Amino acid sequence: MKIPLLDLKVQYLSIKNEVDSAIQGVLNNTSFIMGEEVNKFEESLKSYIRSEYAVSCASGSDALLLALMAIDVKEGDEVITTPYTFFATAGAISRLGAKPVFVDIDEDDCNIDVSKIEKAVTENTKAIIPVHLYGKCADMEKISEIASRYDLKVIEDACQSIGANFRFEDGTVKQAGTIGDIGCFSFFPSKNLGAYGDGGAVVTNNKDLAEKIKILRVHGSSPKYYHKYIGINSRLDAIQAAILNVKIKYLDEWTMRRIEKAKIYSNMIKEKVMENRISYYPFFEYGKQHIYHQFVIQIENRDEVIKRLNDNGIGTAVYYPVPLHIQECFKDLGYKKGDMSVSERKAETTLALPIYPELKKIFIEKIIDIIGCKS
Ligand SMILES: Cc1ncc(COP(=O)(O)O)c(C=O)c1O
Repeated sequence: MKIPLLDLKVQYLSIKNEVDSAIQGVLNNTSFIMGEEVNKFEESLKSYIRSEYAVSCASGSDALLLALMAIDVKEGDEVITTPYTFFATAGAISRLGAKPVFVDIDEDDCNIDVSKIEKAVTENTKAIIPVHLYGKCADMEKISEIASRYDLKVIEDACQSIGANFRFEDGTVKQAGTIGDIGCFSFFPSKNLGAYGDGGAVVTNNKDLAEKIKILRVHGSSPKYYHKYIGINSRLDAIQAAILNVKIKYLDEWTMRRIEKAKIYSNMIKEKVMENRISYYPFFEYGKQHIYHQFVIQIENRDEVIKRLNDNGIGTAVYYPVPLHIQECFKDLGYKKGDMSVSERKAETTLALPIYPELKKIFIEKIIDIIGCKS
């Protein structure tokens, strides 16, 4: 029995007729760039996320770049973020000539450690990019407080967290991506809302920022051939938009099924009293909805556990094996091993287990049995 880390085929087969006819619709009307499907998707995303504006683009990486361009991040600026994320978060900062300033992560949820952010603020700090890693929001209450105290912009990297929400102490609940100034999403195929190629979007409640991003994504031109800014070419492909228009209708149901799988994993880990070996696993917290983009555990002998799982046909992944502060391309920033001890330890001891809406309970039982058996 093979259990992949993610099974995109089984999901496609469940919506094949709808997806195939949506793609055929684009081929028939030949509106390949922008057009009806893209507009429709932006409307659907806006109402799903509950933001005032949604602007689609070519990828989550571009969403981050466009967001930073919209707030005028440039050489000499510093942007605070986490070293424990996909490269694009910090890559977008560096691409604009600005400096990523890394703040280590929280032991409990692998998101930026908000108790360490203030120490990293300088007179050059322009923004904070919290990443809602694995499907759970960073502590947006504290981040919003710090941002308003130092007059910083907040760009949420919600690429892994569509549909997650955050409950503030006063009881207000907000969706990931709508709390800061701008939220960025990725529709990379493996994401909870994944296209069949690349795709991304930016959401905001600020009309001026939304207008600016719309212009920036078409080489800064408004009207066409009159260039107001030096932008980029970053549009959501119409075929991808048509696919996303089908898939977004199922997203809530798929999210609930992911949450169920995560609960099964958590209960089995508890039942089998593996908690002394598994020192970290995500759990469900009321009001702080985790959408389980990934189910990541921390375990001693991680590499040996991965080997055992892989030998038994079970897919795994490590998100992320090298934290960004010690990536070769960032060596000029001057960080060294040991500077971000929590991230470094997670990089050595965590692994992602299979999670997707269609994952069967017997698969989870098998995975947990294999992890639990002593080699
Ligand atoms: C946290 C995070 N940020 C940014 C990105 C970049 O998104 P994309 O792959 O769509 O460019 C991803 C996706 O891989 C991500 O997981």
